[in-house]
Amino acid sequence: MNIQFFALMQTVSEGSIRLKAPKTDKISKEMGVFYNPVMSLNRDISVLLLNSTNKNKLQIADPLAATGVRSIRMLKELSKNKIQKIYINDFDKKSVELIKQNLRLNKIQHKGNPKISISNKDASLFLLGSSGFDYIDIDPFGTPNQFLDAACRRIARDGILAVTATDTSALCGTFPNACLRKYWALPKKGTIMHETGLRILIRKIQLIGAQYGKALTPIFSYSKEHYMRVFLRNEKGKSRVDEILKLHQMFNGAGPMWAGRLWDAELAGKMHSSASKNKIFKNNRELAKLLKIIKEESKINSLGFHDLHNISEKLKISSIQKKESAIGQIRKSGHKASETHFKGEGIRSGIPAEKLAKLLQKQLKNK
Ligand SMILES: C[S@@+](CC[C@H](N)C(=O)[O-])C[C@H]1O[C@@H](n2cnc3c(N)ncnc32)[C@H](O)[C@@H]1O
Repeated sequence: MNIQFFALMQTVSEGSIRLKAPKTDKISKEMGVFYNPVMSLNRDISVLLLNSTNKNKLQIADPLAATGVRSIRMLKELSKNKIQKIYINDFDKKSVELIKQNLRLNKIQHKGNPKISISNKDASLFLLGSSGFDYIDIDPFGTPNQFLDAACRRIARDGILAVTATDTSALCGTFPNACLRKYWALPKKGTIMHETGLRILIRKIQLIGAQYGKALTPIFSYSKEHYMRVFLRNEKGKSRVDEILKLHQMFNGAGPMWAGRLWDAELAGKMHSSASKNKIFKNNRELAKLLKIIKEESKINSLGFHDLHNISEKLKISSIQKKESAIGQIRKSGHKASETHFKGEGIRSGIPAEKLAKLLQKQLKNK
């Protein structure tokens, strides 16, 4: 055991668990094992999503487990029959030691426990050496690219593949060539770059899945701070794959990207109500706000969104209308409308841009 490594530890709380994690000032890839408190919301959403699906007895894989925080939270916070077995893996030896320590800290017996398997392998080899999983969580530092092939191959029929990407500078267009190389699509910086970046990521995952006859349909996705996250359900069948591929297109000078739905509206609704009832999540305002907005925007099937600042600039309107009032106007005109979690001034709606501009102008004249 590395005494020096374990001497620099802190104990933190997250969700319902406690955790030993290395003390750090700044999170970086070079640190090896790390705990990032900013990603607690990412883990909250994983727990909520799995609790909101009606599937039980899941074979779960956490191939890039670091401190084990995600798996331990699943063991403690998923409802009783959710987990058949959870596989916790990391290629870093120190990480595996820490995972065991953290399981003990949370009074979870891992030795001889048929529900838990811990391994110390390369994530892709770990996945390929298995017979498949109902839930795989790819949560790396940077791009998920190197793990996508094995994850797509080992996701079971009707299983859920969760993917995080933290290389948003490539996906959102700061480094277009990096995006072309890594995601086979052209990004574009601008108002809707987080949505287009997320859609570019989704298409890349779908293309890898398509090779293996797997139709990966997003059921929940979002972009936040420095990362993007998507959960995709695997449906098998060549015709479903063909349907997915038909929904890849260019948009707003970027792409190709996934142009279909980003959410399953019923699931988004369940996650929101489950968060408001559960004592672990109830007081988490950031999570509640995100889920509430996504619940509303999931009801609207639109590619991209309108930005009030942009429209006002184009129309040379100096006093920008309040978002809530603009949403009300759009609804009155017969179109669905909601906020979008992608941008504060954004409005998700199927209303054409010209019609929205006219509506805003008319409203100003009537003032
Ligand atoms: C961003 S951290 C994971 C965070 C974790 N999922 C969580 O929720 O806290 C990335 C982890 O992946 C591990 N890792 C990186 N490349 C790997 C590989 N090829 N195989 C297995 N583990 C790997 C690192 O050791 C590190 O612990």
